[in-house]
Amino acid sequence: MSRFNSMSKVKSFFFCRQCGYQSSTWLGKCPQCGQWNSFDEERRLTAGDRAARSAAVVGGALSSPKRLNEVSASESHRIATGCSELDRVLGGGIVPGSLILLGGEPGIGKSTLLLQTALNISGQRILYVSGEESEQQIKMRADRILQTPHKAECYVVSETVTQRIMEHVEKVEPNVLVVDSIQTMCTESVESSAGSVSQIRECTAEFQRFAKESGVPVLLVGHITKEGSLAGPKVMEHIVDCVLQFEGDRNYGYRLLRSLKNRFGSTAEIGIFEMQGDGLREVVNPSGFLLSQRDENLSGCAIAATLEGARPMFIEVQSLVSSAVYGTPQRNANGMDLRRLSMLLAVLEKRCGFKLGAKDVFLNIAGGIRVSDPAIDLAVACAVLSSNVDIPIPPRYCFAAEVGLSGEIRPVSRLEQRIAEADRLGFEKIFVSKYDVRSVDTKRYNIEIVAPSVIAELFRDIFQSPHPRTAN
Ligand code: TYD
Ligand code: MG
Repeated sequence: MSRFNSMSKVKSFFFCRQCGYQSSTWLGKCPQCGQWNSFDEERRLTAGDRAARSAAVVGGALSSPKRLNEVSASESHRIATGCSELDRVLGGGIVPGSLILLGGEPGIGKSTLLLQTALNISGQRILYVSGEESEQQIKMRADRILQTPHKAECYVVSETVTQRIMEHVEKVEPNVLVVDSIQTMCTESVESSAGSVSQIRECTAEFQRFAKESGVPVLLVGHITKEGSLAGPKVMEHIVDCVLQFEGDRNYGYRLLRSLKNRFGSTAEIGIFEMQGDGLREVVNPSGFLLSQRDENLSGCAIAATLEGARPMFIEVQSLVSSAVYGTPQRNANGMDLRRLSMLLAVLEKRCGFKLGAKDVFLNIAGGIRVSDPAIDLAVACAVLSSNVDIPIPPRYCFAAEVGLSGEIRPVSRLEQRIAEADRLGFEKIFVSKYDVRSVDTKRYNIEIVAPSVIAELFRDIFQSPHPRTAN
């Protein structure tokens, strides 16, 4: 091996931290993405390094192909985290030997979630490595979030060099390793500074090798950049087994945990938490938790029956339409795509004859949640119309349909699940697409299911019938 080493020349190349563009020389500005001062140097692997690495990946032994039905399928025992929301998102617990990445904006609660998990996994030995906080800081946080006595044997250490982390691992022999965060880690085998693409990639690969060889699952924290992607071009997402994303508005207490990639489970599951003074709590009744308990009937509010992953969630859409003070009307959407709102406004203008072109329109999704489910369209359109004509929508009405460009009300996925949940929460009426309702057994529910085909018809139903202003 040493002969190989001495024979092959050590070469280095440079590549852009932002977009991954490669170059043989250092450049001040990236020709591909235009970013300044974004090039990092990386040493190309020698043949010897490569041989060592491939030996490490397969655990030193030569692998051989097996017939699929001879492979034992007895799934290795998953480690329950003691937090049912996290277990649900992971697909039923942590799979031994897996590498899990938890991403999220700074301050959203990643360290809190993992420390809380580390303290609650019963009967396991956990090593919590932090590159961001000292042991004292971790202890102070643990004291704040801990109510029940420790269920786990949790060791903490403040460390950033992966080789030294491995030494600690040998001493402690944990069943689960937590690393907070990958951007602060560095390995001695790469020369660039911590947080650079080559460091992140190499450190992630080292943790992956460790996880696969030892069977100890590793949970990594990863920061998200301003643009919303995980810092470092997608390099980590390919290596790891699961990518979880923690999101929410820092000004509100609610946090959603989504799974963006999961080799051992479905990505349709979400977990819902609430940040409190003493750590994160699981939300017990997630479908209705965002609905405000109001009695007075206000115009501009409509409730959408949306699905987050596989879970129904009822969301309050609030809208304010007023005459534009300045020449150009303002449009603002919180929690929803602004272009989608513009499209809906154009449909309302063209198909229903509302002169919204000269009005300011503000839209807000209550609770600081971002919704991408198209089923929210109908609630948005109705909230805008309700504010425009200043007639409230009765509070026990909800909406679940997409709106098309010709003003037609279109079907959405899993309608029956939404109707069942609306029924359970005690709604009186749900507005859905005419084309959707045929497959639903309407007699099973107490809720009245209204299925108009175009938005103009719906408008007549809600705002021009004699009841709304006097209804409860
Ligand atoms: P943190 O977990 O440090 O976020 P991240 O690791 O994602 O950067 O904590 C996020 C915020 O949560 C922090 O600003 C303070 C707040 N917080 C609480 O409200 N209650 C608590 O019990 C804890 C530990 C933190
Ligand atoms: Mg943190």
